[in-house]
Amino acid sequence: MQFSPAEEARRRLAVVVLAAGLGTRMKSKRPKVLHDVCGRPMIAWVGDAAGALSPDRMLIVLAPQAADDVHQVLSQNVEVAIQERQLGTGDAVRAAKRPLEGFDGDILVMYGDTPLITSEELQGLLQAHRAHGPACTLMTVVVGDPFNYGRVCRDADSRVTRIVEDRDASEEEKKICEINAGVYIFESGALWEALSDVGSENAQGEIYLTDVIGILASRGQAVMAHEVADPAVTIGVNSRGELAEAAGMMRARILDHHMRQGVTVIDPASTYVDAEVKIGRDTVLEPMTVLAGTTQIGEDCVIGPSSRVVDAVIDDGVTLVSSYVFQAEIGSGCTIGPFAYLRPGARILPGAKAGTFVEIKNAVVHEGSKVPHLSYIGDAEIGAGTNIGAGNITANYDGRSKSRTVIGASVHTGADTVFVAPVSIGDGAVTGAGSVITRDVPPGALGISRPEQRNIEGYARKKFAPKEENE
Ligand code: UD1
Ligand code: CA
Repeated sequence: MQFSPAEEARRRLAVVVLAAGLGTRMKSKRPKVLHDVCGRPMIAWVGDAAGALSPDRMLIVLAPQAADDVHQVLSQNVEVAIQERQLGTGDAVRAAKRPLEGFDGDILVMYGDTPLITSEELQGLLQAHRAHGPACTLMTVVVGDPFNYGRVCRDADSRVTRIVEDRDASEEEKKICEINAGVYIFESGALWEALSDVGSENAQGEIYLTDVIGILASRGQAVMAHEVADPAVTIGVNSRGELAEAAGMMRARILDHHMRQGVTVIDPASTYVDAEVKIGRDTVLEPMTVLAGTTQIGEDCVIGPSSRVVDAVIDDGVTLVSSYVFQAEIGSGCTIGPFAYLRPGARILPGAKAGTFVEIKNAVVHEGSKVPHLSYIGDAEIGAGTNIGAGNITANYDGRSKSRTVIGASVHTGADTVFVAPVSIGDGAVTGAGSVITRDVPPGALGISRPEQRNIEGYARKKFAPKEENE
């Protein structure tokens, strides 16, 4: 059966994603498919790849206890089907039978634990299927080490005869390197008919979806294999080791994308960039840099080495060395670090500096101002062109509530100034080194609060002289 272009266009598509497995090998409290791969839950990657086909229906099969948590991370139009007991992949597909009652068309079945599958690969499978119109087209890939995967068995004419699972395979079958990627397109009628005949007489006592292939083939219905080139797309995550492996491949893919867009990555092996991060051209990522969450970075920046930036917005031309930035905003041309910690609500405006061992939270540092060394600036505003001396502290918390420190423009604060908030310092004012500022300082004034220095002549000689001399 082959479809004419008109029929093809009319053909309906349903996607069924299986994600009800217990994921016992993960040894986790969380459902397996919610584990993170480069900043997104595994299932979100799979959902996006399938969603790109614009299916008429999209269902996810979930275990009852995981349904709410998993559904939350998926788009609204994904329907949930519940598999009450985890009896195998074939049984999981059966859970989608009732919701799909009356659906006539192609059903794409895939697994929720294969985050590296791409929409291009799925599109290729769909095209191959629709070009020939068999009962089933399954995605296969030839791998170096087929251990643990279902093997694709073919007859002398190279027709697919069945899939045998690793644990059920004979020594001969175990040598087959063409594996079942776990992505199939079935003609709906053929699927439901064959699936009702699948039993559980196998090493795991499970109802295998893969048995559908053998049933269809034995009845003379056409089964096609669509081979893909990249083994990465089919990696199924069953353990933490495989999770790390999948994340590593995804990371390489993400970095490759940024490099193609004009970002320099000095050492891809030690650079971690989450899926949603955006990076401008000619920015350089130094080794041991982590860019996470929704972080956005402009052009011509140098980020790292040894920096972690999470959910932050960084404009063009910023230098950021050995620092941790979390939910903060950095304007163009700023210099950050080494060893700065910018916390939520820190806004460093263009040309400003947050230097060594400086912590800033919920505070605005205006254009061109500098907080170069050893300071804590919290719940504060620092005007433009101001210089904060080394070791300044905004004492923003009295044990009960937080108060603000407002420092004007072109202020020079002495080293070791403590601002006991609420307090404000006028434009152009100065504070004396070591001052504890408890009252407002008017514009242009000097705020100083330290005892006069007293020198006691001869003190050291008396204190440290040998005993006889003192007597
Ligand atoms: C499966 C295939 C194997 C293929 C491999 C590719 C079967 C029997 N085997 O093996 O041929 O090479 O994937 O990665 O299909 N699930 C349920 N309900 C269940 C059991 C599983 O929803 O009762 C879901 C799991 O959540 C998972 C997917 O089905 O997302 C695959 O199950 P898994 O146990 O990981 O199968 P594999 O042993 O990897
Ligand atoms: Ca698997």
